[in-house]
Amino acid sequence: MPDIKKRIAIYPGSFDPFTLGHFDILERALGLFDEVRVVIAKSSSKKSLLSFEERKDLIEKIFSADQRVTVVAWEGLLVEYARKKKIPYIVRGLRPTGDFEGEYQMASMNSKLHPEVETLFLMTSSEHNFISSSLVKEIWSHQGDISEFVPADVLLYLQKRES
Ligand code: COA
Repeated sequence: MPDIKKRIAIYPGSFDPFTLGHFDILERALGLFDEVRVVIAKSSSKKSLLSFEERKDLIEKIFSADQRVTVVAWEGLLVEYARKKKIPYIVRGLRPTGDFEGEYQMASMNSKLHPEVETLFLMTSSEHNFISSSLVKEIWSHQGDISEFVPADVLLYLQKRES
């Protein structure tokens, strides 16, 4: 058997909560890589709704039938994880609603800190352009309907948690 190297990418984010926008990017990344490692990392500026453990359990549940998706929670620098695990690719979704500057800066800094890592961007699908975890959190905090923006497992979990 030839030794075919597995192509692995990191899909990082705060995923608080994981939305249909994230789902779409992850599904499309699976078309490009043999394994996608979801790395739940800290975004210093964001107030959290779900704990790392809750987010990890939910994403694992959503992709329980697909062994190509693995999920870890990581509290350090993203590039340190990439270096430690020797994973050379980072995948990020890009919305047309102002993501570019911040993403450019983060990808450039990550590449400065760890030159072997390459960040690849997938354009968000048009039906998800307006979704953001912060807006979902805000709608949820006012008892609004988030069913169109998150996977069913996320909605069910939040409903159960509140009851
Ligand atoms: N469709 C719709 N919305 C999408 C989307 C898509 N395809 N993909 C992402 N989004 C939204 C998310 O809902 C989220 O919304 P929010 O800003 O309202 O929360 C936003 O886009 C980006 O979120 P997410 O993809 O989860 O990433 P993030 O920007 O919260 O994550 C980290 C940033 C965690 C990757 C980054 O801070 C990090 O690497 N932290 C670790 C420490 C580190 O290494 N820092 C970098 C130093 S240079």
